[in-house]
Amino acid sequence: MPRIATTSDLLPELARGPALNVTVNGTAVEAYDGETIAAVLLAAGLWQLRRTRRRGEPRGPYCGMGVCFECLVTVDGAAIRACLTPVTDGMRIETSQEAAP
Ligand code: FES
Repeated sequence: MPRIATTSDLLPELARGPALNVTVNGTAVEAYDGETIAAVLLAAGLWQLRRTRRRGEPRGPYCGMGVCFECLVTVDGAAIRACLTPVTDGMRIETSQEAAP
């Protein structure tokens, strides 16, 4: 899901905040002030953010409003909901990509 790059008559004028330095699993990704972590991850093509503990099933954003907890990621050692948390400059985000044993 790429970011909207242009404006059109159907959309309000595109206003994007300043670029931020954000990494996901050690790789720099494009991020702008005012975006949520989930928006940054989806724009980077990362849909799988974690795996279930018991069965190792992939999970990603589902509700987009803080209800389902499917978007949990790790930031500075703490599990947080990506859909509710705005990115900040220097943020290091980690997702759980590995399968369960
Ligand atoms: S997508 Fe449901 S809590 Fe974030």
